[in-house]
Amino acid sequence: MKIFEGVNEAVSFEKVTKRFGNTIAVNNVDLRINRGEIFGLIGPNGAGKSTIMKMISTLLTPTFGEVRVFGQDLYKNKQTLRKYISLVSDYSVLEEDLTPYENLKLFATVADVENAEEKIDNFLLSFDLDKHERKLTKNLSSGNKQKLNIARALLKSPEILLLDEPTNAIDVESSRFIRRFILNENITKGTTIIISSHYLWEIEQLATSVGIIVDGKIVIKDSIDKLYERFDTKINIFELTIKKDDYQSVLEKVKSLPNITAIKPVSDEKIIVETKDPNFSLNELEVSQIKLRPTLEDIYSYIIENSNNLGID
Ligand SMILES: Nc1ncnc2c1ncn2[C@@H]1O[C@H](COP(=O)(O)OP(=O)(O)OP(=O)(O)O)[C@@H](O)[C@H]1O
Ligand SMILES: [Mg+2]
Repeated sequence: MKIFEGVNEAVSFEKVTKRFGNTIAVNNVDLRINRGEIFGLIGPNGAGKSTIMKMISTLLTPTFGEVRVFGQDLYKNKQTLRKYISLVSDYSVLEEDLTPYENLKLFATVADVENAEEKIDNFLLSFDLDKHERKLTKNLSSGNKQKLNIARALLKSPEILLLDEPTNAIDVESSRFIRRFILNENITKGTTIIISSHYLWEIEQLATSVGIIVDGKIVIKDSIDKLYERFDTKINIFELTIKKDDYQSVLEKVKSLPNITAIKPVSDEKIIVETKDPNFSLNELEVSQIKLRPTLEDIYSYIIENSNNLGID
């Protein structure tokens, strides 16, 4: 049977503030993350993302406010609830002088994992770490260290997996592997995942909903779909297709227009134009134009630039 059967809310914050001396790292945050969601937490350096992750993992406690996990007060029920929560940040939690197997064994013992041997073997195999069985962890590549770190976090089959920049500085293949593994955990086990990243295409690939945090405040939280719906009409990106002979003159014309915020030549027949003008048109010229869907990065930048006057808290 599923634990906390019938409880739909995995994590909730009620007016949570975290101060470090005079620094307000997290400022009066209300947040709800439902079970099974993959929630992407994004924001500038120092915005409060890691502090939020650490509070959910019980490494930190809030200065004010309440955090609930599966409807229960997290800090009053810390011993019970932390069994269901795993945090992956950098791989410094691994013991450098142990082999991958020994590291997993150590964490399995500490976390009292059932069927540990079988799980460890499976993880080493599926993370392709069995090849490096004899190496000490300090001699693994960054990608393999991070895979080991994720295997460590998954050993106890967490209900809530916190991933704080899990693919930072990890190469393409390893980070792709990590993302697919994470998605699979969510799909097969319904694991609730909270992930922070500065790679917004990563959040775009994984998250079902997104929260943007700026100066300790969540300025927006919505499903990925709704975000696109809300901001599609505000962000004007057009792909222009031009006859080769007209290319230079059209480019010059576009450059001379007010409100243009970016121009990207794609080929000798195509230009992508970003403009503040929603009615942008070069119809008097022979140019065909289609509106492109903004990326999460476009939406994020728009929100950060306008966070003072969006009328959202
Ligand atoms: N232990 C601490 N002592 C003092 N200040 C801290 C501590 N931890 C975090 N801070 C401060 O709290 C604020 C939020 O930091 P946090 O690490 O949560 O940001 P972040 O969003 O994770 O940033 P990054 O994208 O750089 O990882 C920052 O101003 C930071 O300097
Ligand atoms: Mg951080």
